[in-house]
Amino acid sequence: MDKFVIRGGNPLTGTVRISGAKNAALPAMAAALLTEEPVILENIPQVRDIETERKLLVAMGADVELGYGRAQHRTTICCRNLVNAEASYELVKTMRASTLVLGPLVARMGHARVSLPGGCAIGARPIDLHIKGLEQLGAVIAQEHGYIEAQAERLKGAHILFEKITVTGTEDLLMAATLAEGETVLENCAREPEVVDLASLLNKMGARIEGAGTPTIRVQGVERLRGARHRIVPDRIEAGTFIIAAALTGGDLSVSSCEPRHLDALLQKLEECGVQVSATGDSVRVSGNGRPKGADVATQEYPGFPTDMQAQYMALATQAEGTSVVTENIFENRFMHAQELVRMGADIRIEGHRAVVRGRTALSGAAVQASDLRASASLVLAALVAEGETIIDRVYHIDRGYERIEEKLRGVGAQIRRIGELLPKRMVAPEVAV
Ligand code: EPZ
Repeated sequence: MDKFVIRGGNPLTGTVRISGAKNAALPAMAAALLTEEPVILENIPQVRDIETERKLLVAMGADVELGYGRAQHRTTICCRNLVNAEASYELVKTMRASTLVLGPLVARMGHARVSLPGGCAIGARPIDLHIKGLEQLGAVIAQEHGYIEAQAERLKGAHILFEKITVTGTEDLLMAATLAEGETVLENCAREPEVVDLASLLNKMGARIEGAGTPTIRVQGVERLRGARHRIVPDRIEAGTFIIAAALTGGDLSVSSCEPRHLDALLQKLEECGVQVSATGDSVRVSGNGRPKGADVATQEYPGFPTDMQAQYMALATQAEGTSVVTENIFENRFMHAQELVRMGADIRIEGHRAVVRGRTALSGAAVQASDLRASASLVLAALVAEGETIIDRVYHIDRGYERIEEKLRGVGAQIRRIGELLPKRMVAPEVAV
């Protein structure tokens, strides 16, 4: 298993370019299941989860071309000749977002067999709201042998009120409703930019969706959808991770090809911490001395402070003057990184879903291990300011959602290298498209 070796101490300077959003690309690839015509997606990040999604679609009989060379961030998906409507446990257990194929398959094929995702490091993460919504759209659903079996001749529009705001739940039912008979009203929806991006793609495919980005989305069902070309939004969490890297290490970094509007909650919080941030066009510039002030934060659904930035913010709080209370409101077990940060010298006390972080303590390099995607990002950030060398194990977690993070960090002055087996051939762009 690959490891990162990081020597701390270098301020980050220069420009880092942000990739497309993993959490927008995954539902967009699933949306291709809704039509037999080709869907072309651009600005696709080259991360492990995209590879898993490709395998998922190919296993159903889809034709998925991942571009290479100059086109390496483009994919063309054609689901004309699907041979089955199944998402196997082998794939779903490696990536929960695989369950996003459930709604599109039932809507287009009239049936689906999708493995239940099982446990996750950051929380129980059930998909009961996806299932309940599909039943309200008229699907008959059974669960057996760890699989969801769903049937529906044709889904029928319905009024669905989500008991809890769920991102992929909103996306799954949004996709299903596009081919349902009549109108569907989704209430208490997630308002994340990734949901808005999906709705924009679906409307290009001929869907009739209004209200994405607000708590209420209306969908007029149509008979069929067509192919489309769509550019995926930038990854606001990757951008946020680099912005915090700059705030932590000092230096002067420009984070480009991002959408600053999607980062409001984070940028406001950093200003409260005394970090200089300025947004112009598609870039955010961060300059500072690496000595932020402490500030409390609580995770919330968009446009609140994202839970996917909580771990990275905790790394910053370990270097802040004063105490910061970090409250996690979305997932019940998302402090796995805290003990690893404590191993590096941080002063963090967990009290239920609150973490009390006493800053500014000197961090020293250590051997630590990642437990999930964002936790691994916070360990990389802490290592950038730790004295000496840190070795981070299980970086496959970070490869799931960050495209070549070590190359991007090295490009702006960090001392980081990857050791262990090289990335699988598939992830390295050969010169010619296959
Ligand atoms: C999406 O996960 C993201 N993943 C997550 O990013 C992100 O942390 C999360 O939204 C919250 O922003 C993708 O978009 C692929 P939820 P999702 O359904 O949709 C509960 C990353 O690091 N819930 O909005 O699975 C659930 O347990 C990942 O990139 C139910 O109870 O999250 C949680 O407490 C990690 N029943 C809350 O709702 C359901 O049916 C919000 O979860 C669905 C959710």
